[in-house]
Amino acid sequence: MCLTPIGICSFFLIFLMIQNAYSGFESTNVKCTSHDESYATFEYCFLKAINRTYKYVSIKVKLHQVPVRKVKVNFALYERLNGYKPFLYNVTVDACNYLLKPKGNPVVTFIFGLFAPYSNMNHSCPFNHDVTVEKVPFSYITSQLTDILPFPKSSYAFFSEWYGDGKRRATVEVYGTLT
Ligand SMILES: *[C@@H]1O[C@H](CO)[C@@H](O)[C@H](O)[C@H]1NC(C)=O
Ligand SMILES: *[C@@H]1O[C@H](CO)[C@@H](O)[C@H](O)[C@H]1NC(C)=O
Ligand SMILES: *[C@@H]1O[C@H](CO)[C@@H](O)[C@H](O)[C@H]1NC(C)=O
Repeated sequence: MCLTPIGICSFFLIFLMIQNAYSGFESTNVKCTSHDESYATFEYCFLKAINRTYKYVSIKVKLHQVPVRKVKVNFALYERLNGYKPFLYNVTVDACNYLLKPKGNPVVTFIFGLFAPYSNMNHSCPFNHDVTVEKVPFSYITSQLTDILPFPKSSYAFFSEWYGDGKRRATVEVYGTLT
């Protein structure tokens, strides 16, 4: 399987060549779950369509045991075939190490780049404030996904499991379709 995001896998280059141009990423659902409400709660977590071309995702997490000094995240991507099947990525990253040396891991940089410019997370640990991801436009996600990666047109689910101070605290799931 392909472990680097760019270039290396001829299998995915072939996919690229047989795909037509994308018209867009349509997010169909976003779901946020706290596994420990004394640690983290979601103030909001929604997607909104302003009009046909402007749709976005916003999420706000309140952290109740700050400062948070250790953060680990597992990102996994699923493709919907008969049910959701693991697709390409399944990475676990020590977010605090990553934020100190962001150049280290291209897969994580790619995933982080999907929302980081719209978040207040792009700083070194600890986290002593609520975490927000505000109004990430679908058009931005589409351009990130399709400019860089030859994803087949399909339905995807993006799961992220968030671990704070060594325990699983929250899950954020985004469901979407590339059309
Ligand atoms: C959609 O809404 C955005 C933000 O309000 C606006 O800038 C844009 O012009 C609108 N597009 C259309 C096609 O109405
Ligand atoms: C990702 O890896 C973890 C740890 O190896 C595993 O528990 C999880 O089921 C995997 N998820 C997918 C989508 O393969
Ligand atoms: C995070 O912040 C650094 C320093 O300001 C910047 O160079 C980098 O592009 C940012 N990363 C993302 C994904 O926004």
